[in-house]
Amino acid sequence: MKVQRAFSLLVAFVMSSKTSAALASSHNSTYTNPILPGWHSDPSCLFVAEENNTFFCTTSSFLTFPGIPIYASQDLRHWKLVSNVFTRPEQVPEIANSTSQTQQDGLWASTIRYRNGKFYLVTSYASTYPSFKVVSGFLFTSTNVYSDDSWTDPVRFAIRDIDPDLFWDDDGTAYISRAGIVQQTIDLKTGVLGPETKIWGGTGSATPEGPHIYKRDGWYYLMISEGGTELNHRVTIARSKKVSGPYEGYSGNPILTNSNTTEYFQTVGHADLFQDGDGNWWGSALATRSGPAWRVYPMGRETVLFAVTWEEGEWPILEPVQGQMTGWRLPRPSKGEGIPGKGAYVDAPDRITFGPGTSIPRHFLYWRIPKEGSFTVSPPESPHSLRLLPSSQNITGTGIPGVDVNETDITLITRRQSHTYFTYSVDITYAPTEAGEEAGVTIFLTQDQHIDLGIVLLSSGGNLVPHVRFQTTLLNDLDTLATQNVTVPGTVVAPLPSLSSKEIRARLQVQAKDDTHYILSATLHEDKQFEFTQTVEAVLVSGGTGRFTGTLLGAYATSNEGSGSTPAYITQWQYEGQGQKIS
Ligand SMILES: *[C@@H]1O[C@H](CO)[C@@H](O)[C@H](O)[C@H]1NC(C)=O
Ligand SMILES: *[C@@H]1O[C@H](CO)[C@@H](O)[C@H](O)[C@H]1NC(C)=O
Ligand SMILES: *[C@@H]1O[C@H](CO)[C@@H](O)[C@H](O)[C@H]1NC(C)=O
Ligand SMILES: *[C@@H]1O[C@H](CO)[C@@H](O)[C@H](O)[C@H]1NC(C)=O
Ligand SMILES: *[C@@H]1O[C@H](CO)[C@@H](O)[C@H](O)[C@H]1NC(C)=O
Ligand SMILES: *[C@@H]1O[C@H](CO)[C@@H](O)[C@H](O)[C@H]1NC(C)=O
Ligand SMILES: *[C@@H]1O[C@H](CO)[C@@H](O)[C@H](O)[C@H]1NC(C)=O
Repeated sequence: MKVQRAFSLLVAFVMSSKTSAALASSHNSTYTNPILPGWHSDPSCLFVAEENNTFFCTTSSFLTFPGIPIYASQDLRHWKLVSNVFTRPEQVPEIANSTSQTQQDGLWASTIRYRNGKFYLVTSYASTYPSFKVVSGFLFTSTNVYSDDSWTDPVRFAIRDIDPDLFWDDDGTAYISRAGIVQQTIDLKTGVLGPETKIWGGTGSATPEGPHIYKRDGWYYLMISEGGTELNHRVTIARSKKVSGPYEGYSGNPILTNSNTTEYFQTVGHADLFQDGDGNWWGSALATRSGPAWRVYPMGRETVLFAVTWEEGEWPILEPVQGQMTGWRLPRPSKGEGIPGKGAYVDAPDRITFGPGTSIPRHFLYWRIPKEGSFTVSPPESPHSLRLLPSSQNITGTGIPGVDVNETDITLITRRQSHTYFTYSVDITYAPTEAGEEAGVTIFLTQDQHIDLGIVLLSSGGNLVPHVRFQTTLLNDLDTLATQNVTVPGTVVAPLPSLSSKEIRARLQVQAKDDTHYILSATLHEDKQFEFTQTVEAVLVSGGTGRFTGTLLGAYATSNEGSGSTPAYITQWQYEGQGQKIS
């Protein structure tokens, strides 16, 4: 009996070690999409052996600041924010000029590349009001990608459309290709561009854009996206023996799309390809978790990963994008111990108490450049809190383009919604004294489209009484919502019970228990009986004025153009992901 058991254990041991050896050498890995959950559109990714075999991705930041995040991973699963390229307002002063009419302006799709010990990032600033225009191209470089400060001031270049790609030919000449599809040489020191050459028009669908060039086996491959970044989005490819073309399209195009499928991941496109340390090819792309109904997708466009099979002399084969994926054997999960830097993992929770000596976490985002002094960690009068000084205007703003160019600052601080299901809350200490003073939390897509729950001082029967107020803002071209028969909820206001202290201590919370609704609630520290709850549809912050961006969760303070200036103190900021819907 004893002997037999020892024997069978031995057999089991031998078999399992044999199996795992076989697994290690040939078995493919499984992983889940999205790899960068929450609004992470227009990814560009690469692998750098010289940087400890690390993968890097960057995504679009539009008007958010700091901007142009760089994420790093050693296993393609765990991604850490390692720097932001845009952290000094003077790098991109245009951003301060955007107004309430230009909610989708800013830094659009970038390309990140590495050459001779240096990272290169090219991007462009697009302006949408009164009509679409690319204001400038920007080239940033860094020799220490883990440091915000290492990113240079930009070299500007006079690009005339979005989505710059950067490619070096074997002779060292650098090329910018952009939406169109148009190619120009670039002098990387001065930003001077050569003449424009249209190198390919795509396969005939709308908006050929997002080009990237790869050289392989004597061919130049030009991969682009077409059909627009919505349900018709697709990736197509062409190749040429010369960098400047003529490029010949592949008969098997599109090589990647979820258009006309019932997949949960839709709008797949804007892809980039890279090779890992084993020589296997991978690709990144954007996708929207919406299903073909494409109606409820508050997080907007996110970053997904797919395996690529690319035989010598052949066209690449891209694995279709889904939630549950298989692909090449992934580098061993390292949980990123090898990745330097203080940034958070993209799906990590927040449990932030703003202690003395700490700073605002790197993944927090402002809408445009924050006003100096409006956000203070552990101010002397209230250590262990984040002090918000109110902006005069509320987060919708009153700025009129070209007139109130300085009327764009709003006291709003956010992070991404990174999970389908989550709980976000702030504990707030607030003692408003003037009519209209308000502090609260918001589900924010743009200044024209957000859902707020605030504590506001309102006059009632001749007295100023603190109230809790639930309010939805939906302005401007909301045609998409209008055709979807959405009922916009009305404003709901309730007085707070009278408290012994002038200081209100409340928890304001936003929760998503399903993928179609949010539950907003307010509770009071001093009066456990009091509870205010509202449920609201997530479709209200899907598309519309934020069709290129995605939901942010945050806290705000405003005097609502009144005479107040009472600060609000956040003593606790919590975000906890509670799961992803992936099919
Ligand atoms: C690579 O990792 C080692 C050990 O973690 C670390 O000392 C080194 O600084 C890293 N190098 C780079 C370029 O990140
Ligand atoms: C901001 O806009 C004004 C008015 O259009 C323009 O004169 C100015 O140059 C712009 N500033 C920046 C930094 O783009
Ligand atoms: C999906 O179907 C529509 C309508 O037939 C067509 O116009 C579109 O090109 C198709 N998309 C792709 C990627 O084939
Ligand atoms: C592993 O994944 C690659 C990339 O998708 C594919 O080409 C290959 O056939 C897969 N191998 C196995 C054994 O499934
Ligand atoms: C914000 O301020 C504007 C201008 O005063 C006002 O029209 C709007 O109703 C306010 N919105 C909210 C959510 O308070
Ligand atoms: C905007 O602010 C800047 C700097 O504070 C100031 O120089 C400029 O005159 C202001 N412009 C307007 C239109 O108020
Ligand atoms: C909106 O409602 C109208 C009238 O009930 C209906 O005809 C239409 O199909 C609905 N549209 C959508 C997108 O559900």
